[in-house]
Amino acid sequence: MINELYFYGKIIAFLLKGNVVRPEIIQRDYDKLSRTYDDYFSRYVGKYSRELVRRLELAPGSKVVDLACGTGTLSLAIAESVGEKGKVTGVDRSQGMLAVAEKKCRARGFSNTTFVEADIRDVFTGFEDNSLDAVTCGWAIGYVNPQDLVSAAARKIRNGGKIGLIENVRDTLAPIRKTAVKVAQELPRHFNQLMDLHFRLPKDSGDIKSLFMGADLQVLDSWEGDEKFEFRSGEEVLNWVLHTGASAGFDTVMDRAAKKECDELFVRLIEKDFLRDGRIVVTHKFAAGIAQKEE
Ligand SMILES: C[S@@+](CC[C@H](N)C(=O)[O-])C[C@H]1O[C@@H](n2cnc3c(N)ncnc32)[C@H](O)[C@@H]1O
Repeated sequence: MINELYFYGKIIAFLLKGNVVRPEIIQRDYDKLSRTYDDYFSRYVGKYSRELVRRLELAPGSKVVDLACGTGTLSLAIAESVGEKGKVTGVDRSQGMLAVAEKKCRARGFSNTTFVEADIRDVFTGFEDNSLDAVTCGWAIGYVNPQDLVSAAARKIRNGGKIGLIENVRDTLAPIRKTAVKVAQELPRHFNQLMDLHFRLPKDSGDIKSLFMGADLQVLDSWEGDEKFEFRSGEEVLNWVLHTGASAGFDTVMDRAAKKECDELFVRLIEKDFLRDGRIVVTHKFAAGIAQKEE
């Protein structure tokens, strides 16, 4: 009870002081994660990102901006669809992620990709209004104000141009999120900062449609999906979380000096609450959608 009061008291204090994980921390974490990101994340969910690109039905020669391109899963699929006469500009704030994307493009011999290190909130100043055929954003609208981003992208696409989004939904990876909150509740003295990421995630594909409609776009398609991950122990879950974008920024939430204690508690709690018949099932849930600017 005392721990709980201390925990909620800290949340109020952090909110009042604006003590929230800063974007630079998330960027730094993605630099570190870039080496393992494809093996632990893209390998499983890359197929859903590629499906988004397929459903966009981009014409050869299209000019596309891929926001928060990371290691380039969407950018590479787009480069393939738009062909040599097309152009893909991948934008991301993490040098590490961009370096992996560039390396993969070189290995595949693409000459129609450019990667730019920038914040996705600022990048549109470099493009004329109504100049792009499409804009995509995979697994990253939750890092910014999603409506502002979609509205800015809508101004840059031509009439008939498209926007494609895919994003985790709010109750994705529920066992991991619930356990992380419990760790902070049980060890409030090590709880340092807030992270407000999941409040900006869409609840479902209806929220993606609302984002499009909020930018006066016509919704062409929307869908939801999930991928189940099975782990045999809490250690396995922790290892997975620490190698995917799922932990980006989270390391700072808890005191780094107490990392071992927090990690051990995470493993113990997730096994107590979610280990059933020798496995912990964690479901990655997402929503996606495509919209068009009226012709
Ligand atoms: C989960 S990864 C998604 C990467 C890629 N789109 C994919 O499909 O795998 C999130 C990416 O968003 C980037 N990111 C987060 N906030 C950003 C911002 N404000 N500006 C630019 N990149 C950002 C991170 O650096 C990271 O590469």
